[in-house]
Amino acid sequence: MTHITPRAAQGRASWAAAAVFFALFISAAAARAGEAKAPSPFQKSAALFLQACSKCHTIGGGRRVGPDLRGVADRHDKDWIVGFVQNPESYLDSDPAAKKLLAENNGVRMENAHVTREQAEGLLEFITAAASAPSGEARESRLPEEPLTAKLRMPDEGVEGRSLPALALFAVLLLAALALARFGRRRDASLLFVLAAAAAYWGFGGWRHHRLAGDQQGYEPAQPIAFSHELHAGKLTIACLYCHGGAERSDTAGVPSAGICMNCHGAVRARAGQKDPSPEIARIVAAWETRTSSAPLILSWTRVHHLPDYVHFSHRAHIADNLQCQECHGPVQTMARVRQAAPLSMGWCVSCHRTPPQSAPSHWKRVGGPLDCAACHW
Ligand code: HEC
Ligand code: HEC
Ligand code: HEC
Ligand code: HEC
Ligand code: HEC
Ligand code: HEC
Repeated sequence: MTHITPRAAQGRASWAAAAVFFALFISAAAARAGEAKAPSPFQKSAALFLQACSKCHTIGGGRRVGPDLRGVADRHDKDWIVGFVQNPESYLDSDPAAKKLLAENNGVRMENAHVTREQAEGLLEFITAAASAPSGEARESRLPEEPLTAKLRMPDEGVEGRSLPALALFAVLLLAALALARFGRRRDASLLFVLAAAAAYWGFGGWRHHRLAGDQQGYEPAQPIAFSHELHAGKLTIACLYCHGGAERSDTAGVPSAGICMNCHGAVRARAGQKDPSPEIARIVAAWETRTSSAPLILSWTRVHHLPDYVHFSHRAHIADNLQCQECHGPVQTMARVRQAAPLSMGWCVSCHRTPPQSAPSHWKRVGGPLDCAACHW
């Protein structure tokens, strides 16, 4: 019979606690790393709907070739819908409910989109979620104050700074440190604890915070949707203020809500000359159509320009007749992905305040901008 001393029992308990802690910790990190990249099943269903169904059906937008699918789950049970969507031909030939629909639709037959059962279930889920958004007029009149569809995420947030190998190293070092501590080798253990802390710091992306806040020139993060200024502001020549109207009125320029995108993408679903709808546009539509349901997709853009909190900058004060956005943001209309063109350092602000550029209005050139510390730091 083995004899368990209190100390050994305590040791085992702390080992078990440490193991559980690491399992949770690594899986949480891995889950978050995955979440940022792959489209969710829901997003895939949204894209599939736009690709395979939207030419004949709307969800709450009235009938097209086939019936409006809003409330379809109340008209049939789930198995019927999933079966019908997978195999419309045989239902239309033999199922009484489908035959009735066929008659109501003047004999126009639904196409077989050749979806799997899983896809059909996903489609039904998407249709149900999208249908819980208000339809028609009500949707349009809400455009201006659309609170939940756009927000800027800080560059340090999310998974970009995280390094999984460094987190794994952290786990190994910490386990080793615990082992050494357990065998009484205090000095070696504390060394390993320090190394583990350093690995954790690296692993969680702590080092990124040590870039000087203004030292982000050239920063060009990927965005959740491949929105291109080159296409919209350059080729389609949409005015900057159409989407960033805040710049004229307030400190922040703001990013447009999905509602602004939907002014056009309610109708534009594909690139010019392409037959298939764009999956990127499908994601905007999905965000829009689910915005009031319980799990809405949010367009969460990654923030590019970011001054430290102790600096006060106001767009409104800088938007003048001749001074273009490009003076500070560079040729945004040529950027497929927004890049920080200026250093945004104190020296950069102050040197323009001393000698405003030629393009600035004349009263600017006379007075320049403020140089006293309190103008920018309060
Ligand atoms: C070519 C046009 C067309 C396409 C594409 C199409 N449908 Fe249909 N759908 C119809 C028509 C028409 C009906 C009515 C039945 C009939 O006449 O065939 C219908 C009926 C339905 C119904 C039953 C509606 C009700 O009110 O009872 C569902 C559900 C449905 N479609 C889902 C889908 C889904 C999901 C897709 C995409 C995978 C899709 N449809 C693609 C034309 C289409
Ligand atoms: C026109 C606006 C402006 C004025 C005027 C201004 N600053 Fe700044 N200051 C900034 C900006 C922008 C930053 C952030 C720079 C960065 O992140 O690299 C900054 C950063 C700083 C920092 C932090 C430096 C660092 O390296 O992080 C200090 C300290 C500072 N300012 C002091 C002052 C003092 C003192 C004055 C008055 C003599 C002054 N500032 C006037 C815009 C200004
Ligand atoms: C059709 C709408 C639209 C138009 C037109 C548009 N933008 Fe944008 N802009 C966006 C969206 C959406 C984002 C956020 C995604 C991104 O960064 O690409 C953004 C981001 C930006 C950012 C980066 C914000 C940050 O995170 O720091 C700048 C700067 C910017 N726009 C400037 C401009 C300028 C200058 C113009 C005109 C030449 C312009 N935009 C025209 C929609 C638009
Ligand atoms: C004034 C109309 C208009 C507005 C507003 C608008 N777009 Fe577009 N967008 C278009 C047009 C037109 C195209 C297709 C252009 C082409 O193919 O040449 C397009 C194309 C796109 C594409 C390219 C799709 C692909 O597969 O390459 C994306 C992504 C996109 N838009 C996202 C957005 C987002 C996000 C917003 C809101 C911030 C937005 N658009 C606002 C008109 C608009
Ligand atoms: C005098 C320089 C300057 C001009 C001119 C300027 N910006 Fe900015 N912009 C900045 C700075 C600095 C920031 C970072 C602000 C912060 O982090 O608080 C910024 C941030 C932004 C952002 C992201 C954060 C926000 O405010 O929502 C957008 C979008 C933007 N600018 C668009 C524009 C557009 C569009 C114009 C033209 C109408 C414009 N800017 C003109 C300096 C400028
Ligand atoms: C391209 C030139 C230019 C750049 C770059 C610039 N400014 Fe200015 N700024 C001006 C001018 C000119 C004025 C005076 C405008 C006026 O009085 O109409 C001004 C005014 C201001 C004011 C006073 C606004 C008010 O409400 O009265 C502040 C604060 C300010 N700037 C902060 C900044 C900060 C912070 C930065 C850097 C992040 C910056 N500026 C970069 C040209 C610039």
